[in-house]
Amino acid sequence: MEQRKTRIISITNQKGGVGKTTTAINLAYGLALLNITTLLIDLDPQANASLTFLDIHREVCNIYDVLLDSKIQMKDVIHSTASDTLFLIPSRISLAKLESKLIGEIDAYYRLKEKIKEIKDGYDYIIIDTPPALGLLTVNALVASDYILIPVQASYFALEGTDDLLETIEKVKALANPSLNIIGILITLFDKRTTLSKDIYKQLKNVFGSLVFQSKISKSIRLEESPAYKESIFTFAPKSSGAEEYMQLAKEVLKRV
Ligand SMILES: Nc1ncnc2c1ncn2[C@@H]1O[C@H](COP(=O)(O)OP(=O)(O)O)[C@@H](O)[C@H]1O
Ligand SMILES: [Mg+2]
Repeated sequence: MEQRKTRIISITNQKGGVGKTTTAINLAYGLALLNITTLLIDLDPQANASLTFLDIHREVCNIYDVLLDSKIQMKDVIHSTASDTLFLIPSRISLAKLESKLIGEIDAYYRLKEKIKEIKDGYDYIIIDTPPALGLLTVNALVASDYILIPVQASYFALEGTDDLLETIEKVKALANPSLNIIGILITLFDKRTTLSKDIYKQLKNVFGSLVFQSKISKSIRLEESPAYKESIFTFAPKSSGAEEYMQLAKEVLKRV
């Protein structure tokens, strides 16, 4: 049998509130809708992506257990979802303790990469949601990934902090993962009625050129509400602009890899 080429994409920006989790959830679900077997790994201790697909009031095995305990295998923490083609490795608030637990471990930055090897052949795409920091968890994601997708909020300080992120990407490339590439910059919370949004988009195009996705994610009430109902935009409001835009993004991602 021909071996599957799995693509691993981290959704990363150290700023909070820029649409990382919303993008991870809906990109993963969009790919799954296109019949692509997709695994969503929630690497954010806030576990919002996990809550969308799982009831985690139950104590479930999660990414923290597997990164900390070499005896626990990835296959033990993969959960199925309501979609046949979407699978989830959930997070939990305890993940925030990982950094202190792994101090002094030589392989601290490589744990996720090593663990993903166990299961990656089972999936076409692996999407990783990362926390709003450039710490150990995010670096684990970048070391394990082929691509990074950077959501940028259409707001006044949109590009602030990008330098730190690009520097971290360069460090990871130089030291641990030379094949890491930016798959694209995604403008989020875009409001086409404001000149500010348009200006930010132009500014992004000037800095990043064709790396900026053609797909834009508009600011929308539906997208804002969907997490409260623990749903992706595709199940919550399938006819909304948000669903259309995230489907467009999924197709653009497929074209770019
Ligand atoms: N396109 C959008 N329109 C309106 N609200 C959005 C949109 N994208 C995200 N949000 C809301 O903004 C907040 C932050 O989004 P989130 O995806 O959690 O960002 P991050 O993971 O980067 O912190 C959430 O409350 C989310 O529901
Ligand atoms: Mg988030």
